[in-house]
Amino acid sequence: MSSFALGSWRVNRVGYGAMQLAGDGFFGPPRDRDEALRVLRAAVDGGVDHIDTAQFYGRGAVNELIREALHPYPGDLAIVSKVAVGGDTDGAALRQGIEDNLEGLGAGRLAAVNLRMPDPSALPDKRFDAQLAALIKAREEGLIDGVGLSNISREQLLRAVDQTEIVCVQNLLNLADQRSADVLAECTKRGVAFVPFCPLGWPGHVRNHLLTSPVLAALGARLHATPAQIALVWLLDLAPNILLIPGTRTRAHLTENLGASDMALDDAARAQLTRHFPSPDRRNGGGAYGSPQSGADPSPARRRA
Ligand SMILES: NC(=O)c1ccc[n+]([C@@H]2O[C@H](COP(=O)([O-])OP(=O)(O)OC[C@H]3O[C@@H](n4cnc5c(N)ncnc54)[C@H](OP(=O)(O)O)[C@@H]3O)[C@@H](O)[C@H]2O)c1
Repeated sequence: MSSFALGSWRVNRVGYGAMQLAGDGFFGPPRDRDEALRVLRAAVDGGVDHIDTAQFYGRGAVNELIREALHPYPGDLAIVSKVAVGGDTDGAALRQGIEDNLEGLGAGRLAAVNLRMPDPSALPDKRFDAQLAALIKAREEGLIDGVGLSNISREQLLRAVDQTEIVCVQNLLNLADQRSADVLAECTKRGVAFVPFCPLGWPGHVRNHLLTSPVLAALGARLHATPAQIALVWLLDLAPNILLIPGTRTRAHLTENLGASDMALDDAARAQLTRHFPSPDRRNGGGAYGSPQSGADPSPARRRA
C-alpha cells in the first residue's frame, strides 16, 4: 500500500473512519458493540495505521471502543480527531475538546486534531485566528503532533497556512460532490494531506445513488471491483496526497474498502468517470487538481519522523 505524510507521521493511503461505529445518526450507542470491536481490530490487522475519530461520536462511545479494541496503541497508529467550532466557541472549549479526546482514548498525544469549522462559506476572521491559536498552543505543549482543518474553504486554508503548518485537511469530496476541488488543488500544491470525508457519498440517498450507478457497476465488472471500490480508487487516483478514511460497521465492507488500495484505474476508466461525474472546474473547462509538491512515497511506510 502506498503512503503519504501526515505531518511528522507517514500513513498508508487507506485508513479507517470510526464515525459509523456510533449508533444511527452518530450520536447513539453502537448497534453491535462486539462487531465494532472486531472491525477496529481487523482494520489494524489489515494494515490500517490511520484512524479518524471524534469525542462527540456516540457521545464518547466511539473513542471508548477504540480504546477497548486497540489500547495500548501500536506505535505506528496515527489517531486523528477533531474539535468542532460552534458560533462562539473559544480557545478554552477547544482545548477542553482535545483533552476530552485524549482522556476518552487513553492516549498521551494525538497525531493530529482538526479544527472543524461550521461553515466553509464564512470568511476567515479574527475569531478563526484565535480558534486556530488554541490548536497551535496544544501542539506546542505536546498534546498533538499536528494541526488540521476540516470543512473549510480555500480562503480559510490560505489564512491558516499563513499562521502555522497545517498537516491535513478533511473536507467532503466524492464522485458525486466535488465542490472541494479547489481546496484539494491547494493541498496538493502544498503537499498537505487531503482526507475526503464521506468518500462514498453523502447524504445516504446520494451514496445509494452512487453505489447503484450503472457506470460504476459496468466499470467494476470490467476491472473486477465493486462500485464502492471504484468510488474509492477514483479518489486515490485523483492526487497522491489523498488519504482515505472510509467508514463501516462491518468487516466485510472493511475488507472491500482496504482492497481498493491494490487497484488502479486505466485511462479509459478515468475518462469515463470524468465524463459522468465532472468536477466544477472541469465543467468550466479548467484543470481541477493542480500538481503535487511532494508525492506519495511508494516505499514501505516510514512512521514517525
Ligand atoms: N470532518 C467531518 O466533518 C466529517 C464528517 C463526516 C465524516 N467524517 C469522517 O469520515 C469518515 C468517513 O465518512 P462516513 O463514514 O460518513 O462515510 P463513507 O465512508 O462515505 O460511507 C459510510 C457508509 O457507507 C457504507 N459502506 C461502507 N463501505 C461500504 C462498501 N464497501 N459497500 C457498500 N457500502 C459501504 C457504510 O455502511 P456499513 O456500515 O453497512 O458498511 C456507511 O453507511 C467517518 O467515519 C468520519 O470518521 C468526518
